Amino acid sequence: MIAPSILSADFARLADEAAAVAGADWLHVDVMDAHFVPNLTLGLPVVEALLRATDIPLDCHLMIEDPDRWAVGYAEAGARNVTVHVEAAADPVALAANLRSAGALAGLSLKPETPLEPYLDVLRHYDTLLVMSVEPGFGGQGFIHHVLDKVRTVRRLVDTGHLKLLVEIDGGINDSTIEAAAEAGVDCFVAGSAVYGAEHPAIALEALRTRAARVSAHRSTEGAR
Ligand code: DX5
Ligand code: ZN
Repeated sequence: MIAPSILSADFARLADEAAAVAGADWLHVDVMDAHFVPNLTLGLPVVEALLRATDIPLDCHLMIEDPDRWAVGYAEAGARNVTVHVEAAADPVALAANLRSAGALAGLSLKPETPLEPYLDVLRHYDTLLVMSVEPGFGGQGFIHHVLDKVRTVRRLVDTGHLKLLVEIDGGINDSTIEAAAEAGVDCFVAGSAVYGAEHPAIALEALRTRAARVSAHRSTEGAR
């Protein structure tokens, strides 16, 4: 799956920018509050407007403080997946249940330096894991390779039936990094500048998909042996 991030799109033309990536699996929406991260983007009213403007399922990534209070609103509005940061959530298990009962998939995100192991039990309550491969806050940063260790660990746990999660990666995904991420076992790739910074976002999106699919097909053949 490829989820273009509208953080790199033209915020004055969001409906058109969504239409420009009509083949996307999810549209990634970065909500930032200028507290959890040093940047401010958009909130629920803009997400509601986007939901009316596109059929692409929305993947809301909440980089905000107090997600226990604010995240459910995004699920109630109709986002497909609502991801909160484990570093910000007071009660991530209760929050996952609330997101699911509001009709969304529940997502948990880890910043690059946040370890996976302490949260393995919590992750049993979640549908998606978003591994950050840049420090959250800004698009266009370089890919942090060592986060792929977390991806490999969680991939093994999913493949052996210990966890049931879709594994997402976010930050620095482009033509030269997507294959390493696919090789490690990512299911869903968020890409901001690599899609919206390209002259033709739809072509850039399909090029990323082709690269990732080639590696994933190879991974599953190897796994079947
Ligand atoms: C960063 C955001 C990302 C961002 C990725 O905090 O969570 O979704 O849009 O942008 P690129 O793909 O340019 O690294
Ligand atoms: Zn994001």
